Amino acid sequence: MTDRTGSPTAGPVPGPVLGPALGGPLAPPRVLALANQKGGVGKTTTAINLGTALAAIGEKVLILDLDPQGNASTGLGIDRKSRPVSTYHVLSGDASLASAIVETSVPRLHVAPSTLDLLGVELEIAHERNRAHRLRQAIDTLMQGVGDDPFTYILIDCPPSLNLLTINALTASDAVLVPLQCEFFALEGLSQLLKTVEQVRAALNPRLSIHGVVLTMFDPRNNLSGQVVADVRQFMGAKVYETMIPRNVRVSEAPSHGKPVLLYDLKCAGSQAYLKLASEIIQRERALRAA
Ligand SMILES: Nc1ncnc2c1ncn2[C@@H]1O[C@H](COP(=O)(O)OP(=O)(O)OP(=O)(O)O)[C@@H](O)[C@H]1O
Ligand SMILES: [Mg+2]
Repeated sequence: MTDRTGSPTAGPVPGPVLGPALGGPLAPPRVLALANQKGGVGKTTTAINLGTALAAIGEKVLILDLDPQGNASTGLGIDRKSRPVSTYHVLSGDASLASAIVETSVPRLHVAPSTLDLLGVELEIAHERNRAHRLRQAIDTLMQGVGDDPFTYILIDCPPSLNLLTINALTASDAVLVPLQCEFFALEGLSQLLKTVEQVRAALNPRLSIHGVVLTMFDPRNNLSGQVVADVRQFMGAKVYETMIPRNVRVSEAPSHGKPVLLYDLKCAGSQAYLKLASEIIQRERALRAA
């Protein structure tokens, strides 16, 4: 398969970001950025449903909505009136992250919502020296202030762009989780994303690594989907999670009800896949801790 960027599409990718599985300390909270500058690949769907699945198996989870579209907030049932404090205020320095966090209908799952204001924050903080570290500092302050029940996972839903918002997410994260849609141009842009991760690791956040690649919207009836899976597994090797998220209409219906698919239809294939992905991620984390 051809990568339109001209990047190689065969053979594992070398380089530090793919070297040791995870670099930094593994103490909670584990901060994972859901990033891919391609639009519509399943970042938000994965943030919402992986977050829900992690909470369902006992983790305390914060989803940080860093996309001005606010889809993660809406998909979790947080209407616009219930977002008086948002990630915009956090990044612009007007409010603490703690004050932005709201509960969701899922026990142990919280969200720091976003609003369209976030579109303007890049310009507002463009000349600040700490502009790439704003989110990191906000998370550090949050963790200093929490009592004996801290978040164990923070999932950051990034916008479809490698802009300052995504750079803030990568600077604040332990690792990146890359959703890739099983479609013809799945690998397009992946090299650029890996390069950006490497640049952030070198200049801003030495502990950053790739946690894994999750294949989304897999359709077993479509031969192309199978070919894409083979290509991505060849390109990214063991970084690709075993679990694939199938294309499933219940997954796409759930956000319009303001619910994660696990609450909307626990038995459907999409819900089951996200539960499996959560346990695979926890297993990976355990293996890393033991290493
Ligand atoms: N497994 C799935 N089965 C069916 N539809 C899905 C699945 N995953 C995501 N979708 C749908 O695909 C669309 C894009 O998903 P999503 O919003 O999660 O992508 P995204 O990467 O966050 O997009 P953006 O780049 O715009 O933020 C949505 O309409 C979503 O409901
Ligand atoms: Mg999104």
